[in-house]
Amino acid sequence: MARPTKAELARQLRGHAELLRAGGLTHIAVKRKPTQVGAPQAAPLARQAAVPAAKPAKAALKPVIVASVALDELKQHEGRPARELEKAAERVRVCGACRLCATRTQTVFGTGNPNSRLMVVGEAPGGDEDVQGKPFVGRAGQLLTEIIEKGMKYKRADVYIANVLKCRPPENRNPEPDEIEACRGYLESQIEIINPDVILAVGRFPAQWLANSQLAIGQLRGKAFDYKGRKVVCTYHPAYLLRNYTMDTRKKVHSDVLLAVELLGSAPIVRETKS
Ligand code: URA
Repeated sequence: MARPTKAELARQLRGHAELLRAGGLTHIAVKRKPTQVGAPQAAPLARQAAVPAAKPAKAALKPVIVASVALDELKQHEGRPARELEKAAERVRVCGACRLCATRTQTVFGTGNPNSRLMVVGEAPGGDEDVQGKPFVGRAGQLLTEIIEKGMKYKRADVYIANVLKCRPPENRNPEPDEIEACRGYLESQIEIINPDVILAVGRFPAQWLANSQLAIGQLRGKAFDYKGRKVVCTYHPAYLLRNYTMDTRKKVHSDVLLAVELLGSAPIVRETKS
């Protein structure tokens, strides 16, 4: 079996600490090095396991800064959008704008073709995405891939996929309003640079933002909205679909994605690159 990377070990340690804390444990015993005087002591769990207190002061934030998977991927693409996205991905890589910077394994900027006419926007990275550095690579991601490839008949690699948040919220909780606000500029830049004709917003958070509405996702789906001259179609999040895998929900998602396909028309899904 391959040895786990440092990033994977850190992720596992964080997950374990979160479980212990959820179970009510606040301190764990640590063994001091022999040179240090005194018996093993109890250390606050939050400090030992790098689990942040509920709302740490901004000055206390220590962003995790590591290499960006998106930057490597973008090098393989030609054209102005890829070069512009590289600059945005670098800003995200070193971002320390909210508390999530201290608990991430890495940032999850986006993946896919920067010349696509279709952008899919999700909510936030989960555990698998946090480890792999790419959006929608876990179970919900597999279902999203099926929706794109079998439902829409596009190749996943021809679509650009990103999230509202670029860092994983601990325990996959919902994004907080101030986290969405801190991250807002990054998704706005991605949309400006890629300039998709159609955006498929999956889940409540991207749907409410891009449709500029506080309505529930069930009321936002099924029609098209305008976001700065681009069409937005909202649908249920694939994770919701996995939890509610009924004929009714599947049919609704299918009809939403067919609406997006209809809005895209018959032109190729990837624009030709101008050098
Ligand atoms: N859910 C999301 O909204 N985004 C991901 O990248 C993964 C799961």
